[in-house]
Amino acid sequence: MNHFLNIKSIKDLNKTVQDALALKANPYAYSSLGTQKTLVLLFFNASLRTRISTELAAKNLGMSVIVLNVNDAWQLEFEEGAVMDLQSSEHIKEAAQVISQYATIIGVRAFPTLTDKVKDQSEWVLNAFAAYASVPLINMESATAHPLQGLADAITIAEQSDKIKPKVVLSWAPHPKALPHAVANSFVRTMQLQDVDFSIVHPEGYDLDPSIVKHTAVSNNQIEAFKNADFIYAKNWSCFTDYGKILKPKSNWMITEEKIGKAKFMHCLPVRRNVVVEDAVLDSPKSLCIDQSNNRTFAAQIVLKQILESL
Ligand code: CP
Repeated sequence: MNHFLNIKSIKDLNKTVQDALALKANPYAYSSLGTQKTLVLLFFNASLRTRISTELAAKNLGMSVIVLNVNDAWQLEFEEGAVMDLQSSEHIKEAAQVISQYATIIGVRAFPTLTDKVKDQSEWVLNAFAAYASVPLINMESATAHPLQGLADAITIAEQSDKIKPKVVLSWAPHPKALPHAVANSFVRTMQLQDVDFSIVHPEGYDLDPSIVKHTAVSNNQIEAFKNADFIYAKNWSCFTDYGKILKPKSNWMITEEKIGKAKFMHCLPVRRNVVVEDAVLDSPKSLCIDQSNNRTFAAQIVLKQILESL
């Protein structure tokens, strides 16, 4: 693997999931692989899980890690040919080349604007690093994708499922703020590559990007969609068509103990209790949220391992 920009960067997802579970059983098996190698993590946005699990994954492989909150550095310019006489002090062309001299691998987290659909869909930050950096990149959640989360979710389903082909439902859930599509997109793309009975349910108006959903079953009836589900994955996202907007409140879409029945509950975290999902679900053994967060380490570790082995 060179860059890890989305879930399709992984050649064999099923094998990678099994390899990640083997790493989970023996996290220090490759503790010399990253000796004298450095991972630089660039955060344009806040993080708890990605920040810590990716650093831990790198350290399990013997790498050194440097973290930069990009907002503490010089303001970056991304526009080609820009006359930089306003706020931006440094162009991505220099910054990416400079950071590449310090890093064996660079991780980037850069959320969407949710106001400029064309710009967000172009993945302008991630692709600018891909264009000007001379080392492999890891997507730590971009405008349209969160593949480390998607991989961690696949690992979680693989280790928790007692069925050959479990029923997995991605459900939109309420949230007071407009949120990106990245987690939902990557979960959809990942489930499409797995041997699962997968469907999406959301209120009318919250269709995801049709070029990602493709032929995946979609409905607008949450109760029907949840029948006989083995895994229910809740996530809020804002409108894709009426880009970045939220429609009138839909608190009746909150995930409840009654609705999920015997299904396991999944969410990438952070989660707003009693808005997205009620306490009774999160505080029950049906919730896999903490397992998902644990598996973020082994998702990052298997990706770093594959990149290091390809250098
Ligand atoms: N799930 C996830 O990516 O969490 P953070 O935003 O805290 O990194």
